[in-house]
Amino acid sequence: MNKGLLIVFEGIDGTGKSTQMSLLASSLKKNGLAVIETREPTNGQFGQQIRALYANRNGISREEELELFIADRQEHVHDLLIPGLQEGKIILCDRYFLSTAAYQGAVGFSPAEIIERNSFAPSPDLALLFCAPPKLGIERITTGRGDSLNDFEQEASLQKVAAIFDNLELPYIQRIDASGSIDAVHQAVLQAVTPLLRNMIQNA
Ligand code: TYD
Repeated sequence: MNKGLLIVFEGIDGTGKSTQMSLLASSLKKNGLAVIETREPTNGQFGQQIRALYANRNGISREEELELFIADRQEHVHDLLIPGLQEGKIILCDRYFLSTAAYQGAVGFSPAEIIERNSFAPSPDLALLFCAPPKLGIERITTGRGDSLNDFEQEASLQKVAAIFDNLELPYIQRIDASGSIDAVHQAVLQAVTPLLRNMIQNA
């Protein structure tokens, strides 16, 4: 039986989900809760191959790319997510299979089929879907972070990715308006997470 909680952070690039994940992690730890912070692509063998593709996605086919994301997730689920949940940890994960549905959906795969192919992966207890216009995300990446856009982040692609995220309807998704201040978004995240924590503490 799963005793832990799996909370995933999803959305297009530049919506601030990584910042929000760190803020939530700090606030949970301050309250004495056991938290694991992780992300996909992971730093494992497949995740490293994916990261090597950032600068140029044309090195492999879209099918091979999808297989790499799935292989990376299988390893992550087996090595970290399932054991962590069984130990009762709260796992915060920056991107999970809804990212595969949206990003690989944007290059032509069926989002529903991608979700089906990920049925080996435990469903999240909560997927926080950070929503902001792609233009704002891009601005945050280029002016805020001083980065250039990688191959996953070009505006036309991000528009498609955002449209798929917008259409996803699953019981564990909660949409968070990511266009506000860091603190306002953090408060919205806390509001979404608090009921789950209450249940977890009650059932402990
Ligand atoms: P990102 O969280 O932006 O990583 P980093 O902050 O290290 O750059 O994720 C990297 C990119 O990978 C992002 O643009 C989305 C893409 N991605 C997919 O296309 N499919 C997936 O299944 C996942 C997990 C990520």
